[in-house]
Amino acid sequence: MLILGIETSCDETSVAVVQDGRRVLSNVICSQIDIHAKFGGIVPEVASRKHLELIGPAVEEAMRESGIQWQSVDGIAVTHGPGLVGSLLIGVATAKALAYVHKLPLIAINHLEGHIYANFLAHEDIQFPVLNLIVSGGHSDLVLMRGHPQRMMDIPADRPHRHIRVGRARDDAAGEAFDKVARALGLGFPGGPAIDRLAREGNAYAADFPTADLGDSLDFSFSGLKTAVFRRAEGIDSPEKPLSTADLAASFQRAVVHALVEKTFFAAERYRVTTVGMVGGVSANLSLRKAMERRAQETGVRLLIPPVELCTDNAAMIACAGHHHLAAGEESGLEFDTHARWPLGETIA
Ligand code: KG4
Ligand code: ZN
Repeated sequence: MLILGIETSCDETSVAVVQDGRRVLSNVICSQIDIHAKFGGIVPEVASRKHLELIGPAVEEAMRESGIQWQSVDGIAVTHGPGLVGSLLIGVATAKALAYVHKLPLIAINHLEGHIYANFLAHEDIQFPVLNLIVSGGHSDLVLMRGHPQRMMDIPADRPHRHIRVGRARDDAAGEAFDKVARALGLGFPGGPAIDRLAREGNAYAADFPTADLGDSLDFSFSGLKTAVFRRAEGIDSPEKPLSTADLAASFQRAVVHALVEKTFFAAERYRVTTVGMVGGVSANLSLRKAMERRAQETGVRLLIPPVELCTDNAAMIACAGHHHLAAGEESGLEFDTHARWPLGETIA
């Protein structure tokens, strides 16, 4: 089965062709970062205009690179939330037009579920349940995934949800904290990669930043940590010698990584899960990847992390998710909407 995927939820215009939910034939990603960097963050209005300019050429390029013809495409998958509504609309309108013209089934995909499916492109023989840490610009969620989409008649009435959210960010998401701290330290936008790079030159133990103690809860909170870094950078809390930017970045990153690793493995233990997935833009972070790998080895958990290029927003993961929905006989028709906010699955705890 050949699926064309479209992703425009934020500032990447991406189109991909994926075969059988496994082989990426093309994954065109047009980043708008240079444009938004001038403004120090994503400007939604600018993002939608850029998507409009880029989406046509991106579709053509993805088809050309994949080497397939439209007659061979079996379906189209598109992100319809959560994200910037103006940006989502460009991808959704394009997907609807292509589905209509080529008479193809169309499936609307939750962006967070798309992130989870990046691991299914990268790894084989994944056993359910999988506990997923989704760490992106807007989310820090812990989501238990119990399986792929199933045909309606196979879904047990007492367990209808495939995704169960067991933890979430109560305030700033991890990526948001990276971006805001980077901005305060004058590292520009996007902040995550800048902190990741600079932290390698700093001392992660230079400062002991606190992370919120939410007790037994599987939720995250990074807002207090962010403020503590701001105050330390301004010299408010400490009369002693100011820390270098690299030391601040490394110490901040150590605190975030600690919180993410601890909560994730605490959740894995609580739900007796032996497969953990980590996805979303922040999972590109080298220090986080290493710390998760170390803990997985110690605890005998199978850890799945996509290669870096599939961690940040891309359409291949959307096409992969689309493959599994379409294979289960689902279709969205041409009438669905976009959603700025849209939690994945049922929430418990
Ligand atoms: O998943 P993503 O590409 O877009 C959203 O769905 O939000 O995630 C973007 C976020 C940004 O906050 C960015 O700063 C962060 O991921 N990020 C990183 C790294 N690369 C991207 N954070 C830490 N270290 C990185 N290497
Ligand atoms: Zn994302």
